[in-house]
Amino acid sequence: MRQHQSCIRVLAPFCVLAIFLLLTLTASYKPVVVIHGLFDSPSDFQLLLEFINETHPGTNVTVVDLFDRTESLKPLWVQVEGFRQAIYPIMQNAVDGVHLICYSQGGLICRALIATTPDHNVDTFISLSSPQMGQYGDTKYLKWLFPDHMKSNLYRLCYTHMGQDLSICNYWNDPHHRDLYLNNSNFLALLNDERLHPNASAWKRNLLRIRKLVLIGGPDDGVIMPWESSLFAFYDDNETVRDMTSQPVYLLDTFGLKTLHARDDIVFYTMPGVSHTNWHSNRTVYDTCIAKWLT
Ligand SMILES: *[C@@H]1O[C@H](CO)[C@@H](O)[C@H](O)[C@H]1NC(C)=O
Ligand SMILES: *[C@@H]1O[C@H](CO)[C@@H](O)[C@H](O)[C@H]1NC(C)=O
Ligand SMILES: *[C@@H]1O[C@H](CO)[C@@H](O)[C@H](O)[C@H]1NC(C)=O
Ligand SMILES: *[C@@H]1O[C@H](CO)[C@@H](O)[C@H](O)[C@H]1NC(C)=O
Ligand SMILES: *[C@@H]1O[C@H](CO)[C@@H](O)[C@H](O)[C@H]1NC(C)=O
Ligand SMILES: *[C@@H]1O[C@H](CO)[C@@H](O)[C@H](O)[C@H]1NC(C)=O
Repeated sequence: MRQHQSCIRVLAPFCVLAIFLLLTLTASYKPVVVIHGLFDSPSDFQLLLEFINETHPGTNVTVVDLFDRTESLKPLWVQVEGFRQAIYPIMQNAVDGVHLICYSQGGLICRALIATTPDHNVDTFISLSSPQMGQYGDTKYLKWLFPDHMKSNLYRLCYTHMGQDLSICNYWNDPHHRDLYLNNSNFLALLNDERLHPNASAWKRNLLRIRKLVLIGGPDDGVIMPWESSLFAFYDDNETVRDMTSQPVYLLDTFGLKTLHARDDIVFYTMPGVSHTNWHSNRTVYDTCIAKWLT
């Protein structure tokens, strides 16, 4: 009996240590969900998976394999619905919540998904060079898609019923045709609550349930135009970039941006020297802007 008790006394610290190790190894990192951008597919994220495996071993990372390549041109609300069905079960399995890493166009999909999912449990939403305030610029993607259009006349196509069937037109934001944008954009103008709609206050409440919003962008991106759109800044009607805090949607706090900022829950990273397709594969970007949030 005596021997038994001393044995327990000797073993107890080891048990505590073993339980501690078990808990930290299995339950420490929240699952991570990655949403790709225009024309990408999950295979583009191999390096990111290796980075996460190295710095946060054991993290359950899902790169959602939906709307790959040209399928990513489908209307964004259709994609939001598809991604929701894939991500919802992951959220339900994650008692402490999940982190989202959303790249380029995927950042708008994630914002819409969060805003329209009342019982989401997104902890940190990482927006990786994503045109959060829209896009207005001639890029190689645009030239490939619309060889006969320049940025100055793309509004004629984008701000129509037919145009809104293309993802890129869903966030086309022509500063010289605000009225047409407000009347016809059926994605970004709604998500920003620039065109009034009945669910706006619910969407705002849902977005505000995240813990942190991490915005990453940089001047050498080359695709997102203006690149500051990744930090919620955008052109005024003279194509001068105005920062986030000067945007009407911020000042009026239409969808929660000002509240998040006042809560000190927006983190901004401006990273030079990164072109658009390198964001998810750049180790410096990962170490500086992403790793610390994947707890
Ligand atoms: C994670 O890293 C370990 C150690 O380097 C390696 O053995 C394992 O295959 C990696 N797993 C994944 C999914 O990359
Ligand atoms: C990772 O998460 C998914 C979705 O919740 C789950 O189906 C899968 O079993 C998990 N994998 C591991 C290794 O825990
Ligand atoms: C926008 O819609 C309003 C109301 O339907 C209409 O009066 C206005 O002319 C429209 N503006 C443009 C530029 O289409
Ligand atoms: C608003 O919410 C209701 C109820 O959840 C839903 O049926 C409706 O489709 C939503 N409207 C929009 C524009 O999302
Ligand atoms: C745009 O430029 C014109 C002419 O330089 C000026 O009158 C106008 O105030 C400017 N608008 C804004 C929003 O800065
Ligand atoms: C990676 O990111 C760093 C920091 O922004 C930048 O200086 C560097 O040029 C980038 N490298 C590549 C290959 O994108």
